[in-house]
Amino acid sequence: MKVLAILYDGFKAAQQEPRLLGTVENKLGLAEWLKSRGHEYIVSSSKEGPDSDFQKHIQDAEVLITTPFHPGYLTRDLVQKAKNLKLCITAGVGSDHIDLNAAVDHKIQVLEVSGSNVTSVAEHVVMSILLLVRNFVPAHEMIERGDWQVSDIARQAFDLEGKVVGTIGAGRIGYRVLQRLVPFNTKELLYYDYAPLPEEAARAIKARRVEDLEEFVSQCDVVTLNAPLHEGTRGLINDKLLAKFKPGAWLVNTARGAICDRDAVARALQSGQLSGYAGDVWNVQPAPKDHVWRTMKNPLGGGNGMVPHHSGSTLDAQARYADGTKKILENYLDGKAQEAQNVIVGLGKYETKAYGRR
Ligand code: NAI
Repeated sequence: MKVLAILYDGFKAAQQEPRLLGTVENKLGLAEWLKSRGHEYIVSSSKEGPDSDFQKHIQDAEVLITTPFHPGYLTRDLVQKAKNLKLCITAGVGSDHIDLNAAVDHKIQVLEVSGSNVTSVAEHVVMSILLLVRNFVPAHEMIERGDWQVSDIARQAFDLEGKVVGTIGAGRIGYRVLQRLVPFNTKELLYYDYAPLPEEAARAIKARRVEDLEEFVSQCDVVTLNAPLHEGTRGLINDKLLAKFKPGAWLVNTARGAICDRDAVARALQSGQLSGYAGDVWNVQPAPKDHVWRTMKNPLGGGNGMVPHHSGSTLDAQARYADGTKKILENYLDGKAQEAQNVIVGLGKYETKAYGRR
């Protein structure tokens, strides 16, 4: 059997740090094990264009392993060329880089390691909210420049206490974000999700559901995005919706870049409609050098908390998603049932309710 993995290059860091498991060098820790079972294991970062390893090897691979951090985009066109493909495993969470509808049509199963990095992301979200609200990035840049002008920072620095924070998507990550914010004594914690939280879970953190999206964003000082990317969320945050946000709100997106309209977000930040935008996900990854989100600023020169896609790729998370990938492969090879929570697309149908209402 041929297993193809598209991972990111770790270069020197991966040679020095073997716990960087999700790299081309360390191969999710699967190389010896797959070899001992007699399987061919191709690992590469080359993923764009017809001459890439991804597009060449996908034509006869039976299993494809990808990560959302350096996504191998499995389009419908490639699905049609992938004659032997039976299983796609996302080493991590979020399988939108796979054309899931095409996978359904071609009876290719898509699994992810659910839960493997949700705490990692929730912590990153809380950090991003704080760094925006407290105007951290320009303050640090000022220090590196050798300057010291407290008023330039303080004029846009606030407490999180007393603010309204809301999540779009209240699944594993969204709920954990709200849970972690309870001790900050926010004015309210809100959520928008077509799946209501179990009553007890909502009560435990005093989260209130708002069913209308425009009404929801108009009430939030901080909005955090924690829903998967699918037909119902692509471009959800656009000019029209941003106009309904509270003027000067902060937006954190660690879900997927394409949930936001790239230029609408830049315009909203540049006009001050948003005070800040932070996150680690981009509409194309790696993000081009001139991507507007790298350098966009609010009218006072701050409000940008963007980083590369790494919030779900801490060393702790890598251990969990490497382990989970091996378990999924093992089940597949041994003909055992997969854990239900990991199955996004089963044989010919969606098994999850999280990728849109169908
Ligand atoms: P989950 O499946 O536990 O929760 C997703 C929630 O979003 C569900 O409650 C679902 O009903 C809701 N949802 C779906 N469509 C919606 C819509 N149109 N409006 C409102 N809510 C909607 O997923 P989990 O584990 O919380 O992850 C969420 C997403 O976060 C992933 O799909 C992935 O895209 C992203 N992620 C990012 C990582 C990073 O490193 N930045 C790492 C892990 C996940």
